[in-house]
Amino acid sequence: MKVRGAVIRSSPGPLEVAEMELEDPRPDEVQVKMVASGMCHSDDHHVTGDSPLDPCPFALGHEGAGIVTKAGPNSKGIAEGDHVVFSAIPSCGHCRWCATGRSNLCDLAAGILAGPRWTDGSYRLRLPDGQPVGQLCGISTFAEHTTASLDSVVKIDDDIPLDKACLIGCAVSTGWGSAVNVADVQPGDTVIVYGIGGLGASALQGARFAGAQNVIAVDPVAFKREQAPVFGATHAVASAEEASELARQFTDGQGADSAIVTVGVLGADHVRQAFGAVRKAGTAVITSIGPHDAVGAPISLHELTLHQKRLQGSLFGATNGNWDVRRLINLYRAGDLKLDEMITRTYSLDEVAQGYADLHAGKNIRGVVTFA
Ligand SMILES: NC(=O)c1ccc[n+]([C@@H]2O[C@H](COP(=O)([O-])OP(=O)(O)OC[C@H]3O[C@@H](n4cnc5c(N)ncnc54)[C@H](O)[C@@H]3O)[C@@H](O)[C@H]2O)c1
Ligand SMILES: [Zn+2]
Ligand SMILES: [Zn+2]
Repeated sequence: MKVRGAVIRSSPGPLEVAEMELEDPRPDEVQVKMVASGMCHSDDHHVTGDSPLDPCPFALGHEGAGIVTKAGPNSKGIAEGDHVVFSAIPSCGHCRWCATGRSNLCDLAAGILAGPRWTDGSYRLRLPDGQPVGQLCGISTFAEHTTASLDSVVKIDDDIPLDKACLIGCAVSTGWGSAVNVADVQPGDTVIVYGIGGLGASALQGARFAGAQNVIAVDPVAFKREQAPVFGATHAVASAEEASELARQFTDGQGADSAIVTVGVLGADHVRQAFGAVRKAGTAVITSIGPHDAVGAPISLHELTLHQKRLQGSLFGATNGNWDVRRLINLYRAGDLKLDEMITRTYSLDEVAQGYADLHAGKNIRGVVTFA
C-alpha cells in the first residue's frame, strides 16, 4: 500500500515527508494504522548526525501506537482491530537477555539502527523509484501505516487512548525506568533529574512514585521548570550547581542519592555534574545520548573508588516492554501516571519538522504527531 511518512535521505539531513510503498505483513508481522507518535529527541540525533544512520533513506519515529489492520500468518494472538503500543526496543523472548528478564538488552536491538528486517535483511518500505527505506527501530512510526515484527508490539486494552499511550513506547518507559529500575529510588530519597523533556518528566514521575522525598528538576528553560511540579518535582532550578547545592542541604551535606541525566544532547560535563552531585555509594544514571564518537568524562577517580560511587548507563530504563507497557498503562488508568499532561502540543505529519523546531526551542514537554 502507499503511505506517507517522515524520512531523512541522508544522516545528517533534514526530515521531510515522502510517499512510500509499504509491504503487507509476512509471518510474525502485523500492519498497523498509526494513531499517534511522540517526538523523541533520539530521532533528532539522526537528523543532526550525532547518531548517523547508514544507509539512508530512513523512515523515522519510534514512539508510536495504533490499530492492527492486517496480521500476517502466525500472529500469536494479535488480530485485526487490536490496539498496540510499539516498543522502541524489540524483544525476541529467548536470547540470553530476554531469557533472564532483561529484554531491554535483547540481541535484536543490534538491528534497530540498521534499517531492514532483522530476519533476512529485506526491506518493508520503498520509495516510488524502488529504493529501499530503512525503518527506525524496525517500526518507523512517523507514517500513516507501518508493518513491523511482532517482537516490537505490545497489545493493550481498547479503553486506553492511543494518542496518550504512544508515549509509553519510549519516553515513559525509559524515563520512569531510569528512576525506578536503574537509580532504584527508595522512599525518602533525594533525586536530581537534569533535562525536563519527555524522558525527564517521566523520570520525575517515577522518582516521586517510588517515594523520593526531594525531587529536584534542572532545566535552563523557564517553561520546563514551571511544568516540573506537575510531574512530581518538589523543586525546580536552572543549573546543575543549584541542584547540587539543594541536594546537599537536604542530606546534611552528603549529596543526592541518585542523579538522572535526561538532557537533550549528552556531553561530558553532564556526566561530571551528575557524578559529582551524588553521595557516597550514590548512583549517577546516564540516559541521554550524545555524539556517537564522543569519549571520556571528567569524573573524579578518587570519588569513584573511595566514595564507592556508581556511574550507570540506562537503555530503555531497563524495562521489559511486554510487561512494563501494561504495568504503566495500569498506572495511567489509576491516575498514578500522567500522560495527558505530558503532551504540550500535537502536530500533523506535515508539521513534523515544526515539531522538532519546537523541541529545540524548549516549547514542549512532549510534542506528538497525530494521524487522522
Ligand atoms: N537511553 C535510552 O534508552 C533513551 C531513549 C530515548 C531517548 N534517549 C535520549 O534521552 C535524551 C532526552 O530525550 P527527550 O526526548 O526527553 O529530549 P527533549 O529535547 O525533549 O528534552 C531535553 C531537555 O533537556 C533540557 N536541557 C538541555 N541542556 C540542559 C542542561 N545542561 N541541563 C539541564 N537541562 C538541559 C532541555 O531544555 C530540554 O527540556 C536524548 O538524548 C534522547 O536521545 C535515550
Ligand atoms: Zn531477545
Ligand atoms: Zn525515544
